[in-house]
Amino acid sequence: MDFAKYYDDRKKLVNSYLEKRMQKKGISRVDEAMRYSLLAGGKRIRPLLLMATADAIGGNGYNYLPVACGLEMIHTYSLIHDDLPLMDNDDYRRGRLTNHKVYGDAMALLAGDALLTLAFEVMLEQKNVNSDVLVETIREVAMCAGNYGMVGGQALDIDAEGKEISITELNTLHAAKTGAMFIAAVRSGARLAGADSQQLLALTKFADLIGLAFQITDDILDVEGNLKEMGKTAGSDAKNSKSTYVTLYTLEGAKALAEKTINEALNCLAIFGNNAEPLRDIANMICNRKS
Ligand code: IPE
Ligand code: IPE
Ligand code: MG
Ligand code: MG
Ligand code: MG
Repeated sequence: MDFAKYYDDRKKLVNSYLEKRMQKKGISRVDEAMRYSLLAGGKRIRPLLLMATADAIGGNGYNYLPVACGLEMIHTYSLIHDDLPLMDNDDYRRGRLTNHKVYGDAMALLAGDALLTLAFEVMLEQKNVNSDVLVETIREVAMCAGNYGMVGGQALDIDAEGKEISITELNTLHAAKTGAMFIAAVRSGARLAGADSQQLLALTKFADLIGLAFQITDDILDVEGNLKEMGKTAGSDAKNSKSTYVTLYTLEGAKALAEKTINEALNCLAIFGNNAEPLRDIANMICNRKS
């Protein structure tokens, strides 16, 4: 399978759906701040995962663009807030100045808030899915995004600044701040396309593991990467005295752990056939990425 083409096709579709949906204007210049970060590029890995998971169980990921794009809106809001001076205080994101550097702290805060709420409006625009299934899918997304998941993880991350935390604590933190939205993406794709309980269980484990590997790689890139390739400034974690997989395991140790985690994730896909090839390719891409 030509994965580069598979990825490119879906990324284009996500980008054009987001672009089109943002043409419906609100009443203020918060729209401009929302568009600035949402349409700035980004890997679109969460929508891609949703679609590839639907494909893996014999559905068609193209059918679930509203839910997939809702996830990207939630993710983009989390990045805008993550970069604020009162959080990581970063200057670059997705190859451009961070939202608050252009629009100011208050407008960036509001752009994040509005993307989070718009996400739920857009997900509820999903058609041709049984309404009970859609409600359960969106309920799970909400749980993964909030205080049980991503936001909870971000809070643990802030509280861990300047402290040496244990590996168990770091695992919990990373599983929440990054893993939860990966679980949301994969379980949404699975549920929307009609996965059975055995498939859902295997895919949840897969998502948890690739989410962890994704954040381990993010920690590695924060040390080894550069602004040009990543679109965000390296060295943010050291600047904020974060405990990361690199500080706890060393650079080499973190790389070995990311690879081991991806191999475990691939094992979870053993019950799936050829339709899961894109999911396997995504898993492999996670460790090898430069951005
Ligand atoms: C960055 O996410 C924040 C983490 C959860 C590690 P991505 O690396 O997916 O960022 P974009 O969406 O491609 O900009
Ligand atoms: C943030 O993790 C994860 C989010 C939920 C936004 P990081 O703070 O490490 O993400 P980057 O490195 O700034 O993208
Ligand atoms: Mg952060
Ligand atoms: Mg950050
Ligand atoms: Mg990081």
